[in-house]
Amino acid sequence: MPRPTRASELSPEQRATERAQARDVSLRRVGALFTAHKRPLFVVIAIIVASSVVGMASPFLLREVIDVALPDQNVGLLVWLVAGMVGVAALTSAMGVVQTWISTRIGQEVMHRLRTDVFAHLQRQSIAFFTRTRTGEVQSRITNDIGGMQSVVTSTATSIAANLTTTVATAVAMIALSWRLSLISLIVMPPAIYLSRKVAALRRAITAQRQRELADLNVTIEEGLSISGVQLSKTLGTSAALVDRFTRTSERLIDLQLRSDLAGRWRMASMSVIFAAIPAAIYLCAGLPATRGGMTIGTLVAFTALQGGLFRPLTSLLNVGVSITSSLALFARIFEYLDLPVEIDEPAEPVLVDPDRIRGDVRIEDVTFTYGSSDTAALAGIDLTVPAGQTLALVGETGSSKSTLGSLMARLADPTAGRITIDGIDLRRFRLADLARIVGVVSQETYLLHTTVRENLRYARPDATDEQIEAAARAAQVHDLIASLPDGYDTMVGSRGHRFSGGEKQRLAIARTLLRNPRVLVLDEATSALDTATERAVQQAFDELARGRTTITIAHRLSTVRDADQIAVLDHGRIVETGTHESLLEGAGRYAALSA
Ligand SMILES: Nc1ncnc2c1ncn2[C@@H]1O[C@H](COP(=O)(O)OP(=O)(O)OP(=O)(O)O)[C@@H](O)[C@H]1O
Ligand SMILES: [Mg+2]
Repeated sequence: MPRPTRASELSPEQRATERAQARDVSLRRVGALFTAHKRPLFVVIAIIVASSVVGMASPFLLREVIDVALPDQNVGLLVWLVAGMVGVAALTSAMGVVQTWISTRIGQEVMHRLRTDVFAHLQRQSIAFFTRTRTGEVQSRITNDIGGMQSVVTSTATSIAANLTTTVATAVAMIALSWRLSLISLIVMPPAIYLSRKVAALRRAITAQRQRELADLNVTIEEGLSISGVQLSKTLGTSAALVDRFTRTSERLIDLQLRSDLAGRWRMASMSVIFAAIPAAIYLCAGLPATRGGMTIGTLVAFTALQGGLFRPLTSLLNVGVSITSSLALFARIFEYLDLPVEIDEPAEPVLVDPDRIRGDVRIEDVTFTYGSSDTAALAGIDLTVPAGQTLALVGETGSSKSTLGSLMARLADPTAGRITIDGIDLRRFRLADLARIVGVVSQETYLLHTTVRENLRYARPDATDEQIEAAARAAQVHDLIASLPDGYDTMVGSRGHRFSGGEKQRLAIARTLLRNPRVLVLDEATSALDTATERAVQQAFDELARGRTTITIAHRLSTVRDADQIAVLDHGRIVETGTHESLLEGAGRYAALSA
């Protein structure tokens, strides 16, 4: 089945990518990556030039063997010449090894820099970036594109240098041997080169298509074989359709691979014919009275040997443009990531605070927030004050932007208008690390790392002792559960914590936040209903966590709401009521209707 036009399936992210690939990447910027490696680069080029010059000695030695040493039966000279031939081969090979070593090292170091720069830069991106980026896209760029650069950096650059020097050196040697024969090969060369370039272009087109199909295959694997993906496909009964999609993509790959390999085969086949034809033509010319011009057998043999070695570097040189373009496309994809503006950045002039001394007076002042992709405001005109140590409960129907408000508290996004302050300081003026210590978040969906329970908890506070971890787990009502596991705190939580129930995961998240000991807490209760026993445990854990802290609870359970100092009812991103449980019930407004 032919796929529908792909343009409609592209995310804005991908479209931007294609645009970036079309756009020129400045060579200067690519060059700048290598400035730190100037000296080794110079050594590489010197080795390349030296080895092609040394390599040119071989045909001249060969000519001497055939024209002088053999006919004269001069054994002494023959031994010297033969030893020279072996010596040249040994020397050039040794230089080749050193050159590969240095250039691979440079390539790896540049790659390492890029890889870590991209990783660090993407870490600074706001949540919005990750919501609009297709899963697997970032991963693919960091691993495949930067991986692809290794070959670009080491092979494109060094092969240009190597081919250029080989071509020049060979051409010079050929003319030195016989200008007549050089002229003849000049005539045969163009059609051969034309043919090889044509096949190469065909092959490239096929390769590009194959790359796209491979990316599709990867997305299918990601969506079909990740734990959440498998769960979804099993419950929706789409396993068969997924297998089908995978099969079709895989089938198209067979065809593409076949065509690409065959194009390669045709190229090889036509090359072999030409390779055979060129020396044949040269022998013919050497024998014809008109073109003979008194050349020796040695010259003839040496010349054909040289000329056979000229073809490959020459064609690669002619394709240099293509390899540079495709390398630049890789760089473009990486630079695009490095150029992403950081939306939530460190303040230029941070207010330096001691996170432990923050009281935790929270004020939300006339805050409006619109998601980048949307045209209606998710939050509008929010004004709330939560005095230090008090509790605010946010209630409202699903989709009323409660979690959105919570995410603003932790600066996962910044308000479009208005501001949020803690102790009178705008959130945007705290250093990010300070803010992360001041505001703790237990989100609606808990993410656990694929490691042990202990390491998951310690992730929140790397210097925590085992005792502190256990104390936090106890306070979060999750210690007994952990202790009952086969390996206790050393039990692996499984991919994303699928091993645990929703209520258990949330208590682990509470323990994690307890370890951080933040002044201001944002609790986003899970929407899923918990059984009464679990609910009580979670409630206790929440209470323990909230004690003595300024707490904003996004509440789904009546018990949480009832005890709050203040309740705000959200409706479509606006506050429609505020008050306490009693006052709101008396008002018989929105809250009374919700809790009825
Ligand atoms: N990244 C996003 N981009 C665009 N719109 C979003 C994004 N995240 C949430 N929204 C929209 O913003 C609105 C508020 O979502 P939010 O998650 O804050 O609701 P909520 O009150 O927490 O709901 P629930 O009670 O179900 O958790 C919804 O209409 C949602 O579709
Ligand atoms: Mg929510």
